[in-house]
Amino acid sequence: MLPRHVAVIMDGNGRWARKHAVGVALGHRRGVEALREIVRYSSDAGIQVLSLYAFSTENWSRPQAEVGALMRLVEDFFVSEIEELDEKQVSIRILGEIGALPDGARKAAAAAVERTRDNGGLQLNIALNYGARDEILRAAKRLAQEAAGGFLHAAEATREDFERHLYTASQPDVDLLIRPGGERRLSNFLLYQCAYAELVFTDKLWPDFTAEDFKEALKAFDSRERRFGGREA
Ligand code: IPE
Ligand code: IPE
Ligand code: MG
Repeated sequence: MLPRHVAVIMDGNGRWARKHAVGVALGHRRGVEALREIVRYSSDAGIQVLSLYAFSTENWSRPQAEVGALMRLVEDFFVSEIEELDEKQVSIRILGEIGALPDGARKAAAAAVERTRDNGGLQLNIALNYGARDEILRAAKRLAQEAAGGFLHAAEATREDFERHLYTASQPDVDLLIRPGGERRLSNFLLYQCAYAELVFTDKLWPDFTAEDFKEALKAFDSRERRFGGREA
């Protein structure tokens, strides 16, 4: 079966750059190429939601020049890709607090979201200044505000009430999480939504990751038996 929601931690750009003796910015640029291919493939394959981890709340701690290069790439991506994405009926959502991004990146992202709002194809989530702990805390605060305002009985709050305040509101849970780049960890990505996700780790560095590798991961997913705590069928 095809997963409804695929999440990807796009990792390994820095090591790719080191391996090829080029600057880290070029590694990130090659990462965007890989991203393009995976978005195109997912859209054509009929995947419902694709979530891509582009910049974490922790990534601000990197050297300023690298952060700057990443933000320019974010801006370029939205400006140069929007036409094709819109044509393919892709609908873009940003996961994370984009208010903290530099003007150019923030405006380009917001414009892309606005323009593709009503599209009915692939739902493309780009995680920018995203951290799962911040997301969960933000949802908890909003729920608390609803209760304080008398809109909700705190003691009777349901999971659905809570999930409405996540960035992924109304989208299905992550079915498959893919992490290239060799690390075996989640690095604060979609911790709530990945409760029952199947995890696929590969040593391929993200800039080398192709549609073929993505297909492999889909195949691995297809062979997994998901039990959700129950008994095997
Ligand atoms: C992932 O590649 C891209 C971002 C975090 C923005 P890295 O830059 O983390 O690559 P490595 O882990 O150093 O190889
Ligand atoms: C996760 O990769 C964040 C993104 C891919 C955007 P990192 O490279 O930041 O994660 P760690 O530091 O290896 O956990
Ligand atoms: Mg990394």
